[in-house]
Amino acid sequence: MEFLDNSVSLKDDGFYIDDVSLNTIIKEYAAPLFIYDGNYIEKKYLSLYKHIPWKKLKIFYAMKANYNVSILKMLKEKNASLDTVSPAEVLLSSKLGYPPENVIFTANNMTDQEMDEVKKSGVLFNIDSLSRLEKYGKKYPDTDICIRFNPDVIAGENSKVQTGGESTKFGVLLSEVENIKKIVEKYGLAVKGLHEHTGSGISETESVYQSMRNLLSIAKRENFPNLEFISFGGGFKVPYTPEDKKIDYSEFGKNITNIFSSFCKEYGKELYLCFEPGKYVVAEGGYFVVQVNTIKNNRGRMIVGTNSGFPHLIRPVLYNAYHHICNISNPRGKMFTYDICGNICETGDLFASQRQLPEVREGDFLLIMNAGAYCYSMGSIYNLRPLPNEVFIYNGRANLSTKMLSSNDFVENILRGHCG
Ligand SMILES: Cc1ncc(COP(=O)(O)O)c(C=O)c1O
Repeated sequence: MEFLDNSVSLKDDGFYIDDVSLNTIIKEYAAPLFIYDGNYIEKKYLSLYKHIPWKKLKIFYAMKANYNVSILKMLKEKNASLDTVSPAEVLLSSKLGYPPENVIFTANNMTDQEMDEVKKSGVLFNIDSLSRLEKYGKKYPDTDICIRFNPDVIAGENSKVQTGGESTKFGVLLSEVENIKKIVEKYGLAVKGLHEHTGSGISETESVYQSMRNLLSIAKRENFPNLEFISFGGGFKVPYTPEDKKIDYSEFGKNITNIFSSFCKEYGKELYLCFEPGKYVVAEGGYFVVQVNTIKNNRGRMIVGTNSGFPHLIRPVLYNAYHHICNISNPRGKMFTYDICGNICETGDLFASQRQLPEVREGDFLLIMNAGAYCYSMGSIYNLRPLPNEVFIYNGRANLSTKMLSSNDFVENILRGHCG
């Protein structure tokens, strides 16, 4: 039985995550169910501080990957910083006690109303268009800001998450520096940070280095004399298939540090080096359990029907993403080929197509791996199915973190939002 490099293990009496029995968790909380291994996530977050040997390093966790409150509380205890993208993400960070100086706001296509709402929180704005910079400067002159640039490098595991290059909507073009400077000067703004995010799941480390060099080429004293930090976004890839190449993050960290250190010498000041990973921190520490309730043999094609679907885990449908799946009820069974389907009224509602798994029977539980990033947080209630329970395991204890709404509470919520 093959696993990825996460914390699940098979013992004589079934599967375990961090010494907590999966059978026990499933019995208590039922499927569909997300499970997070808090210690594993903590280790991943802190590992970047080991891999990147730059003293002034600040890792902002991109909470869009997973806004689970237990994860956010645990990371806060580690003095983590957060990358936020909406007023509600900023509000949640503040209610959980994250100090504003540890939060950055990187909204895309922000409205005036959002700008005013978030400004009150005191967090730093990372502005990604000339138009927004003009509006921000006019309303909030003589304040600090960060500017998001397009690094002009195309990289990332899927075209939908490649955020650099001319065809994307993100960031200001590097060639617009002079226009940025004019607006900054006009309103007395202090540019404290520069930022770029190249894409998600970047497999070629050279692309990251190139993005860094491109952004650093404009980060000159004469352009931006007040810099305190430079952020190179997220995008650190983790393996999703057992065959995926693993990146040597220690070597990567050293190379990054060398590039940044040479830059700081030229700039004449040791700046903070910042990153904002999402997937790297939470993907592998998350699991999704579904239960098989229907098996069909369509003239030899085996169709497995489960009690969840793409509203709970959309990555296979949206990005054609591979998620490793284990049949935890029959791990040593004979191998067969299956389509693993959801319960949603669309033919494309599949977790996996033509996947080899140990014999699957009605009633079996399937464990979908790497379900910690962009799964629950991208969830929807399509077909009016509430989002599942989330369980958080930390220091050997499993606790219910988010409760799935009963059909009754779920419908009551919908009716409460109805205005006329
Ligand atoms: C601006 C920005 N920063 C960071 C991230 C996190 O990316 P990842 O989860 O691939 O690390 C994203 C992802 O969309 C992003 O848009």
